Amino acid sequence: VLVLGIESSCDETAASVVRDGRDVRSNVIASQHDLHAEYAGVVPEIASRAHVERMLPVLHRALEEAGVDRHDLDAVAVGHRPGLIGSLLTGVSAAKALAWSLGAPLVGVDHVQAHLYAGTLNREEPRFPALGLVVSGGHTAIYRLDSWLELTRLGSTIDDAIGEAYDKAAVILGLPFPGGPNLDRLAQTRRQGDTPTRFPVSRLGKDSLDFSFSGLKTSLLYAVRGKPVGRGRDSTFEQDHTALSADEIRCFAAGFQVAAVKAITTKLERALEQAGSAAGVGGGSVYHTLLVGGGVSANSHLRQELASLADRAGLDLRLPALEYCLDNAAMIAGLGTRLYEAGETADLTLAAIPTTRC
Ligand code: KG4
Ligand code: ZN
Repeated sequence: VLVLGIESSCDETAASVVRDGRDVRSNVIASQHDLHAEYAGVVPEIASRAHVERMLPVLHRALEEAGVDRHDLDAVAVGHRPGLIGSLLTGVSAAKALAWSLGAPLVGVDHVQAHLYAGTLNREEPRFPALGLVVSGGHTAIYRLDSWLELTRLGSTIDDAIGEAYDKAAVILGLPFPGGPNLDRLAQTRRQGDTPTRFPVSRLGKDSLDFSFSGLKTSLLYAVRGKPVGRGRDSTFEQDHTALSADEIRCFAAGFQVAAVKAITTKLERALEQAGSAAGVGGGSVYHTLLVGGGVSANSHLRQELASLADRAGLDLRLPALEYCLDNAAMIAGLGTRLYEAGETADLTLAAIPTTRC
């Protein structure tokens, strides 16, 4: 089965050809980072226009690199939710036009669910039930998966997504856009004598599998800027990051990273324990696999901590290769293949939708 995937939910225009839901034949990504850098965030209108300009060249390259004629495609899959509406519309329109012209089935894929598929690309099928973790710029959630199509959300963030928190923390520390990867890099360049700053780890209720990152962000803000001066709209701070030494900034970055990652592993451990005690067995033995995806799964500290957690719990850890952590179309084509095989195809009324189904 040969499936073309299209991804345009945010600021990456991407297309990919995947065979049998596993074998990635091409993975083309045109990033728009340079266009949004001066605004320190993605500007929706600029993103939509850039998708329109880049979509056809990206599609042609994905087919060419895969050595595939478009008439050989069995289906066209597209990330149709969640995302920026103008950005999504570009990909959905391109997918509809292509599927219609080829007479090929169209498959609508949820981008968040597709992130969970990324660690399966170029590898064997995982065993279910699996515990799933999505850590991206827009979403932070834990799932139970009984198959690729049966997914139950166990918990999610009640405020910021973890990637968003990383990006905001980077701004507070005066690091350049894109914040997450830059903060990660700085936190890793630890010097002798550095002590990572201690920040609170949000645990929420005793049994909660939800996340909260706004308290951590505020702690960092106060630690860097000192006390607020004045009230309401006119309040300012005593200082900003320019008052800090490079050593202090590094320790803040490392401390933020430790607390953010600890919040994730704490909830995964809780989810394992809860499933174990509900089934009357020890933690970890209900689940066979830990599926992870989303931009923050590229984070070096998170990857280390997940590896040791999976080791302790006896889970088959599916950390995506770095090129499949960030937004890409291979994960769309991969999960799209499983949907196509299950008969879950769409027609030309497929809508672009801002929110996730998961
Ligand atoms: O999955 P993704 O590409 O887009 C969404 O679906 O949201 O995730 C992007 C997010 C950004 O917030 C980015 O700062 C973060 O992933 N990110 C990282 C790292 N690489 C990307 N955060 C922490 N450490 C990283 N190495
Ligand atoms: Zn994403």
